[in-house]
Amino acid sequence: MLRVAVRVRRQHAELVLAELLTLAPSGVEEVDAGPGVVEYAMYGSPGELPALPDLKAAAGGALVEVRTDEIADDWSERWRLFHRPVVFDGRLTVRPPWEPPSSATPVEVVLDPGQAFGTGAHATTRLCLELMLELEPGGGFVDLGCGSGVLAIVAARLGWAPVVALDNDTAAVAAASANARVNGVVIDVRRHDLRVEPIVVAPTVAANLVAPLLRVWAARLASRAPEPLRVIAGGVLVDEADSVIRAFEGAGLRETSRRSDGEWVALVLESPAPQ
Ligand SMILES: C[S@@+](CC[C@H](N)C(=O)[O-])C[C@H]1O[C@@H](n2cnc3c(N)ncnc32)[C@H](O)[C@@H]1O
Repeated sequence: MLRVAVRVRRQHAELVLAELLTLAPSGVEEVDAGPGVVEYAMYGSPGELPALPDLKAAAGGALVEVRTDEIADDWSERWRLFHRPVVFDGRLTVRPPWEPPSSATPVEVVLDPGQAFGTGAHATTRLCLELMLELEPGGGFVDLGCGSGVLAIVAARLGWAPVVALDNDTAAVAAASANARVNGVVIDVRRHDLRVEPIVVAPTVAANLVAPLLRVWAARLASRAPEPLRVIAGGVLVDEADSVIRAFEGAGLRETSRRSDGEWVALVLESPAPQ
């Protein structure tokens, strides 16, 4: 099965939708694809889907991008099988929208990852959430590489504010914005490349990334004036932990806590408390 996605500028989206519905009468899926952009997706086998020139003509001057992805025939069912509720220490449940609500924990977050990383079930996400639950919430929070927005949304529900969520992937920005709305939390979700754009910090930073990107970000942090900060760093393999800790030590932060699961480690790194 194919998924063809047509991204268009929002101000012309309704006109484009009307055109697309003449080409795909069985309907299109609408996805918020970030600031000013709407994605309309159609599913079908190659012969069933409108041809590329027709799609481009339908979108006209509003066109941003047409993208075709191959997906497994039973993708929606398989996806649901893998996306189950995750319960954290009797305090937090992260569940997909198609699972029934539960009152087993005081905080429940509904998460539809769409095309983005972050169901809450991956070991790296779980370890970061476990470390967040150990901390006293409060003050500003920034989620670097927010994916579905899971860490940012949980932070807002636990009491951090204001919360900023950054990702360089438009699908992640769309998913995080939609998930924030569904959970009734206010989060400033932005498209942002951590490697090149001016560094964004808050008193608490979550960074579930990969070790090379964590080291780059720590080096960029080290070039700023020191400030009180704690960082929850995830996506680190056991044998990468030392190099990540050294990179943050260069910015004046020390490891204060860690959790591990199999090959993965997540760390809390903090600047020393003011004397
Ligand atoms: C491992 S996922 C984490 C998602 C979510 N925060 C979680 O904990 O489940 C890492 C995220 O970082 C984003 N990312 C990777 N490189 C980036 C960069 N240079 N700038 C911003 N985001 C980036 C990816 O798009 C992805 O959504």
